[in-house]
Amino acid sequence: MPDLYAVVGNPISHSKSPFIHTEFARQTKQTMQYSALLTPLDGFVATVKKFREQGGKGMNITVPFKLEAFEQSTQLTERAKQAQAVNTFKFDGDQLLGDNTDGAGLARDITINLNTTIATKRILLMGAGGAARGVILPLLKHQPAVLAIANRTAKKAQDLKQQFDDHGHIMAGDYANFVDGNFDIIINATSASLNDELPQLPAGLFNDSSLAYDMMYSNEPTRFLTFAKQQGVKHLTDGVGMLVEQAAESFFLWRGIRPDTRNIIHLLNQKK
Ligand code: ATR
Repeated sequence: MPDLYAVVGNPISHSKSPFIHTEFARQTKQTMQYSALLTPLDGFVATVKKFREQGGKGMNITVPFKLEAFEQSTQLTERAKQAQAVNTFKFDGDQLLGDNTDGAGLARDITINLNTTIATKRILLMGAGGAARGVILPLLKHQPAVLAIANRTAKKAQDLKQQFDDHGHIMAGDYANFVDGNFDIIINATSASLNDELPQLPAGLFNDSSLAYDMMYSNEPTRFLTFAKQQGVKHLTDGVGMLVEQAAESFFLWRGIRPDTRNIIHLLNQKK
């Protein structure tokens, strides 16, 4: 009998997690089965309970249940505590360990797959919602010169600065605060791309060798990446690498084995 894992969300049909984890399992010769569970908006707790009763070993949690997953956890990793959101459950008897692998996935994609140093660099993080909060600590761990958090609603960026101020050099404001910011890495963590929108970005954010990184992924270049390209940015990437790396972190938590990610990132990019 294979060990059971699943991703839970609403919607879920678009999820690439079953493909990614099935590839990881094949590659590392793990006897496991990974499925996608569509869950009614008011049915998260019941879905988790049923899956545990069926012998499930762990879960990934995606939109819109990451906050509820945080609240349901009986134990939390430090990074999940700081993110105030959970994207990975590991079931262990009565215990429900909640982790958040999103930020580590982003940092690994930038530093290892894209071979781009974060240390001593100037980073601009666009957005101050749940997605942004989840990546702040993992980015600061790499000791950038500055992490600037820019948000349409400046107050939310300032609140995040306050929360994480002890962990590194943070600046916060709205986008206009960062005119001529000359950033090395600009990361879009807003949900604007989902609606094919773009925050109002001032000119001068990028320099000649900037990396523009959109945490979203889609078959077409996002509005943010199109804008960055128009500004002369040559180094552009979407969130496929982050998606695969956060999955690899979850897989490592469950199975104690770190799968190779490059081939799967390549496969997903080819499928676009
Ligand atoms: P998520 O969990 O995806 O981060 P969220 O917590 O609702 O979702 O946060 C959405 C983020 O995207 C916020 O930073 C939001 O900016 P505001 O705080 O000012 O609302 C940002 N966002 C969404 N659409 C945007 C747009 N069209 N322009 C600028 N920012 C946008």
